[in-house]
Amino acid sequence: MKDYKFKTIIEPFKIKVVEPIKMTTREERRKYLAEAGLNLFLVKSENVLIDLLTDSGTTAMSSDQWAGIMRGDESYAGAPSFYRLEKTIQELTGFSEVIPTHQGRASERIMFTALCEKGKKVVSNMLFDTTRANAEAAGLVTLDIPCAEFYHTMKPAPFKGNIDLDRLEDELKQNAKGVAMVVMTITNNSGGGQPVSMQNLKAVRDLCKKYGVVYTIDGCRFAENARFIKTREAGYENKSSREIAMEIFRLADITSISAKKDGMTNIGGLLAMNNKEWAQSCKNNLILTEGFITYGGLAGRDLEAMAIGFNESVDDEYLKYRLQSVNYVGQHLLELGYAIVNPPGGHAIYLDAKTILPHIREEQYPAQALTSALYEFAGIRGVEIGSVMFGRDSGDAGTGASANTKEIPHTQELVRLAIPRRVYTQAHMDYLLEAMSVFKGEISNIRGVRFTYKPKVLRHFTARFEWC
Ligand code: F0G
Repeated sequence: MKDYKFKTIIEPFKIKVVEPIKMTTREERRKYLAEAGLNLFLVKSENVLIDLLTDSGTTAMSSDQWAGIMRGDESYAGAPSFYRLEKTIQELTGFSEVIPTHQGRASERIMFTALCEKGKKVVSNMLFDTTRANAEAAGLVTLDIPCAEFYHTMKPAPFKGNIDLDRLEDELKQNAKGVAMVVMTITNNSGGGQPVSMQNLKAVRDLCKKYGVVYTIDGCRFAENARFIKTREAGYENKSSREIAMEIFRLADITSISAKKDGMTNIGGLLAMNNKEWAQSCKNNLILTEGFITYGGLAGRDLEAMAIGFNESVDDEYLKYRLQSVNYVGQHLLELGYAIVNPPGGHAIYLDAKTILPHIREEQYPAQALTSALYEFAGIRGVEIGSVMFGRDSGDAGTGASANTKEIPHTQELVRLAIPRRVYTQAHMDYLLEAMSVFKGEISNIRGVRFTYKPKVLRHFTARFEWC
């Protein structure tokens, strides 16, 4: 009997629980936006139609995970939920020591403070902002050395998340003792959700071994990275994404993971490694700030949801749908003539605001302006990844609009549309695409923005703006 392979990719799940979306008018959104000082972090989520602020912690959990939540054991010490999580992570990563934390940045803080000597360097394909902030807070110096393809935003290449191996070897040759660790972020979130190839990950392992440097994987989106390897790298087409993920982790010395992404949970994180001395140092730090070693700042039910989520995310049927549905949005935006980081990332589409809004000068924050305009126009909430998030104020960061004069801008002005896992259907994405199509006619009317309140640190969360 012929088993037809249909082209239509369906969401590989049924929906059992629904959460209503409140419809709003453009007039209402204009008001909400003004009240929020043109900062979408300050808009109430109930006033957002399609929320693409982040894919972190926004996952819809499965019926198995919700069943697991009822099974969660809330004992302070030795809960079976922890041992189920430990076993899942041991099998997946090959690491014997599994340390739960409440989320990724807690893992990062513990890892950097417990294992790295102040003054040393952390070298990476690209650190995520909390990872960089935690490394710097622990007295470390950070260095990003993405591959050459990374800099060609709109030119497709299969593995734009790779590290520049020549520059890495130069760093290690010059002073390997000065490098605390090499961190490979898979996929590269700050750089367009782009994957790293197995070849690159292996070459980093070889260099770390040769120069005696610790090799860390920031594995937040390890499953999406594994699926990209399966579909793009020769020799991996017949392996499952789970097998590829297992191979990736076994290259490294330690992994730091936020379970809020490919762990498929609403909260949670972990550290995993083989070195028992490192684990002991991390556990001592964990007890001080997060909680006992078998719960690490989480409820037992969260550990249970993680134990199940980490297995669900490497399912190839799910991953096929996941990557193709994000790609669907990306390809249609390209057809509409939008400049995006190309190819589309695993978890998000990144709009290039400088190209989309050529009439807005860099000092007027084109990505912030685009994010605000898109919300007002269609109720879609993305996030600015540009000079508001990463720019620096060279002088004293005052609070008035005049503080703009001392700005050092970031090189890229992107708007990230991050797609939560298993939350939106194709109809939601078709709404987004229709809105983006009509929005094109409005683009030349969008004005730049200026700060009315500029906080000194992590300013994108609480800054306020007005239209120029
Ligand atoms: N590493 C990467 C690559 C991340 O993307 C994130 C979070 C973290 C570490 C920190 O994990 O949030 O659990 O503390 N990224 C979220 C985002 C916030 O929206 O991209 P966390």
